[in-house]
Amino acid sequence: MRRAWATGLASCTAMLVLVAAAPQAGAQDKARKARAAASAASAAAKARDGTAAKYAQRFAAECAACHGANGRSDMPLTPVLAGQPSLYAITQLFLFREARRGSDAMNAVAKNMSDDDLRGFSDHIGTLPPVPAPPPAAARIRRAWHGQGRALAQQHRCVACHGAALDGGQQVPRIAGQREDYLKMTLRGFQAGTRAGYTQAMTAAVSHVPVDDLDTLAYFVARFPGVTPP
Ligand code: HEC
Ligand code: HEC
Repeated sequence: MRRAWATGLASCTAMLVLVAAAPQAGAQDKARKARAAASAASAAAKARDGTAAKYAQRFAAECAACHGANGRSDMPLTPVLAGQPSLYAITQLFLFREARRGSDAMNAVAKNMSDDDLRGFSDHIGTLPPVPAPPPAAARIRRAWHGQGRALAQQHRCVACHGAALDGGQQVPRIAGQREDYLKMTLRGFQAGTRAGYTQAMTAAVSHVPVDDLDTLAYFVARFPGVTPP
C-alpha cells in the first residue's frame, strides 16, 4: 500500500517535472528559433547592404559620367535621375534593355543587364535625394511662362498623374527640376510616337497639346516650383 503510494507519488512527481519541463523546453526551443531567425535576418541585412554598396559603386563607375555622381546630370539631353522613384527607373531600364525605348547610349548600357542589375541600379537610383536645379541665368527667366506653364499643367492634367509637386511616385516619374532640353525632347518624342512609354498615358496626355505649349511646359516644369511671377 505504502509502496504503491510511493510509486504513485514518484510518477506524480515525474509528471510534474515533465509538465514543468515542457514549457521550459518550449521556451528554449523558442529562444533557439529566435536566435536562428535573428542571425538569418542579420545575414540578409548584410547581403542587402553588400548589394546596395555594390550598385552604388557600379553607378559611380558606369553611370555617373553621364548622369552625375549625385544623379544631377549636367550633360545635354541626359536626364537627371536624382529623386526618381525606383519603380519608374526599373521600368525604363527594362524598356531600354528590350530596346522598346530607343536611345543609342542607354540601349548599349542596358543590353547585358541581368534582372538583378535592373533591380540593383534602380534601387540605388531610388535612394538618391532630389537635387534642385541650379538657378537659371537672369537672361533666361521668362516670367510670363511661369503663369502659362502652371495653367497648362492644370489644363492638361499633368498634376493629376505627376502630383501637385510634380514629384511623381511608383511608375510615374518626378518631372520637377528635370533638365529643360531633355523635357522638350522627350515630350516631343511622346507626341510623335518616337518615345514609347510603358503605358499610353503620356502619348494620350500630350497628343493634342500644341508644340509651343510643350515648350512652355518644359520651361515651367524644369524650374518648378520656381519663382512666382509678381
Ligand atoms: C553615355 C552616357 C550614359 C551613360 C554611361 C548612362 N546613361 Fe542613362 N541615359 C543617358 C541618356 C542620353 C538618357 C536619355 C535617353 C533618351 O531618352 O534619349 C538616359 C536615360 C536613363 C534613364 C531613364 C531616365 C528617365 O528619366 O526616363 C535611366 C533610368 C538611366 N539612364 C539609367 C542609367 C544607369 C543605371 C546607367 C549606368 C548603368 C546609365 N544610365 C548610364 C545617358 C547615359
Ligand atoms: C494619365 C497620367 C499622366 C498624365 C495626365 C501625364 N503624365 Fe506624364 N507620365 C505618366 C507616366 C505613367 C509616365 C511614364 C512613362 C512611361 O509610361 O514609361 C510619364 C512620363 C512623363 C515624362 C517623362 C519623364 C522622364 O524622366 O523621362 C514627362 C516629361 C512627363 N510625363 C510630363 C508630363 C506633362 C508635362 C504632362 C501634362 C501635359 C503629363 N506628363 C501628363 C503619366 C501621366
